[in-house]
Amino acid sequence: MTQPSSHYAVDDVPAVGASAAKRGFWSSRMAFILAATGSAVGLGNIWKFPYITGENGGGAFVLVYLLCIAIIGIPIMMAEVLIGRRGGHSPINSMRTLARIFKLSPRWVWLAGMGVFASFVILSFYSVIGGWATSYVLTAASGQLSGQSADAIGAMFSGLLGDPVRLLIWHSLFMGLTMLVVARGLRGGLERSVTILMPALFILLLIMVGYASTTGHFGEAARFLFQPDFSRLTTQGVLIALGHAFFTLSLGIGVMMAYGSYLQQDISIARTSVTVSVLDTVVALLAGMAIFPIVFANGLEPGSGPGLIFQTLPLAFAQMPWGSVFGTVFFVLLVFAAWTSAISLLEPIVEWLEEMDGMNRVTSTLLAGGLCWLLGIASILSLNACPLAMFPLFEGKTIFDLLDYLTANVLLPLGGLTVAVFAGWFLKRATLEEELALPQPWFGLWYSVLRYISPVAVAIVFVYNLF
Ligand code: PHE
Repeated sequence: MTQPSSHYAVDDVPAVGASAAKRGFWSSRMAFILAATGSAVGLGNIWKFPYITGENGGGAFVLVYLLCIAIIGIPIMMAEVLIGRRGGHSPINSMRTLARIFKLSPRWVWLAGMGVFASFVILSFYSVIGGWATSYVLTAASGQLSGQSADAIGAMFSGLLGDPVRLLIWHSLFMGLTMLVVARGLRGGLERSVTILMPALFILLLIMVGYASTTGHFGEAARFLFQPDFSRLTTQGVLIALGHAFFTLSLGIGVMMAYGSYLQQDISIARTSVTVSVLDTVVALLAGMAIFPIVFANGLEPGSGPGLIFQTLPLAFAQMPWGSVFGTVFFVLLVFAAWTSAISLLEPIVEWLEEMDGMNRVTSTLLAGGLCWLLGIASILSLNACPLAMFPLFEGKTIFDLLDYLTANVLLPLGGLTVAVFAGWFLKRATLEEELALPQPWFGLWYSVLRYISPVAVAIVFVYNLF
């Protein structure tokens, strides 16, 4: 990290400038893009996007998701990064600082507090799924997949879900790895590895798309993903698409605020936010194009739920030449993508504990990670065929479904809505102009979208889903 000077013209924030300079900055625009992409690209793109698309009928859902990214996600990402850079601290203290400078209610800090809570809940089940992905590294590497039929591969996955002890071991391993990096502050090294791993993941996805195009069902998959059939879209589906736009871009919980606080003043927030969002979206669409041809070629059910990628991609690895090698590399990269996202979830909680109690980093990590790990066990026990699956809460939902629903579809959009209102209505326009340094009409466009369209769209989707 380097130490450029920062200078603000339109409001008086000397303390922030000093603190930001002390904390250091990303070494380059690229470093920020890599870290933010590392957080954004994860299980959300490769595991969650395909399965919720399958469950919600395809094309129309994808269209709504893309619209949400463009008109809600990107403007709110810019606002989050902006708040972080202007505030110059961890999310909670950035909000506190800005609220003080602009003479606003100190209650705005609760927004960041809600983000910490949401990070905690997301990480608990994210680590369980990260554990599934980690276990598939071994499955692929041991050659167990080669030549297997769709049924055998389905049975392998159900076997994993039905075995709480194995799930616990993999969940513990994944969470342990995440805690290790956060406790030792190894972020720098990890971010550098993103430079190699992200492009590698991208290339492997392209290879998988190439393989999928040989199944003879590529056109069917493309129609499923890109030809909107609005009769298959429900209001619930619209909420899920909106929630996923927040989840996949790591928005609404302060991650982008935290990363923004290390961004130099001369780097364009708009360009970097658009770059990160486009990269994230491309990865999700590629994952869809890799998975759905296999689904259709093998007569699988697109709406089969969270196991979708674990039942389809292994089938491709079972059939293609060098499948065990490709499979191993693919799952290693997936674990890495999940790991960089998990770290970005744990980091703000740990930072908050450190600031609040003056606890040291290792103790904070052990406490926060340990509690997430415990909550993860509740998700494990609620998965199919495990003891708690007998007590489905709320309309047949498991604890895992419920935590996923509560965070992605309620807390994140609510966090994003509040960020839009805070930046759009409570910060000074001159401050926003100075931070974004965008020429007209771009600034005006962003400002109106952030003030009116993004919050109203989120509110409408919420209200519709209440009734
Ligand atoms: N964006 C990550 C993914 O798509 C998940 C995540 C959500 C990470 C929120 C940080 C904050 O996998």
